[in-house]
Amino acid sequence: MTAQCLDGKKVAQKQQEKIKAQIAQRLAIGKRAPKLAVILVGHDPASHIYVQNKRKACAQVGMQSQSFNLAKDIQQDELMDLISQLNEDPQTDGILLQLPLPAHLDASAILDHILPHKDVDGFHPYNLGRLAQRRPLLRPCTPYGIMQLLNYYDLDCKGLHSVVIGTSNIVGRPMLLELLLAGSTVTNCHRFTRHLDEHVRKADLLVAAIGKRDIIKSDWLKPGCIVIDVGIHRLENGKLSGDIDFMTAKERAAWITPVPGGVGPMTISTLLENTTLAAELNLQP
Ligand code: GUN
Repeated sequence: MTAQCLDGKKVAQKQQEKIKAQIAQRLAIGKRAPKLAVILVGHDPASHIYVQNKRKACAQVGMQSQSFNLAKDIQQDELMDLISQLNEDPQTDGILLQLPLPAHLDASAILDHILPHKDVDGFHPYNLGRLAQRRPLLRPCTPYGIMQLLNYYDLDCKGLHSVVIGTSNIVGRPMLLELLLAGSTVTNCHRFTRHLDEHVRKADLLVAAIGKRDIIKSDWLKPGCIVIDVGIHRLENGKLSGDIDFMTAKERAAWITPVPGGVGPMTISTLLENTTLAAELNLQP
């Protein structure tokens, strides 16, 4: 078997064309373009690239973005003050605080301070709570982007046994909630899971969000399964790879996301979708 690719680059492009048209429509009726505030703290090279890509995508669809590149030693109260200003600014629809933050900052307290209706990353307990209660509003971008990718290819998760490896607040946990919402039977694996291979062997749909390569062996994959690889690693030869070895996994799976060009672009287009939704809702503090 050779798996078919879940082409996130193509699907994200289509999604962005829709958002671009939606924004043009807003402008045509005299509304302003949605505006996203993008906050980056410090000099983490990977975060710089992610943020650059997000800002570029905003420009491509006609969305405004405002950049805040802050020093790595910024204090908690200064960052909280910036969030307060953006919360109160009626021209700002979405606030994105790129993670991870330097260790001296309390990320949870800062994320909690973002108004839920400007929380376009969907990380606020209000938005996660809504997803948990089956009435999602602003949904975490990577898991929701994955659901939209599956949906594009008509891959129905209802009744599938989905196995998510990873428990982060950004991917693993909201991914479980998304899959549950879609009618999957869900298993979550993590660092304390025993016999990881036994869980992987039973997965109709596998989401790898480990952040490490070579933990999951391709010969554990159930033949014909769907593989979603959230990992991204720079190899010694300079190429990018996911958590799973693509070349061997594609010989067992029916569907697989490539790295790059799978999950990453979907995260960005979903961020744009969330920001447009936040602008449309236009809920004031
Ligand atoms: N760091 C890694 N992924 C993400 C994401 O989706 N949003 C934010 N804000 N930070 C991240």
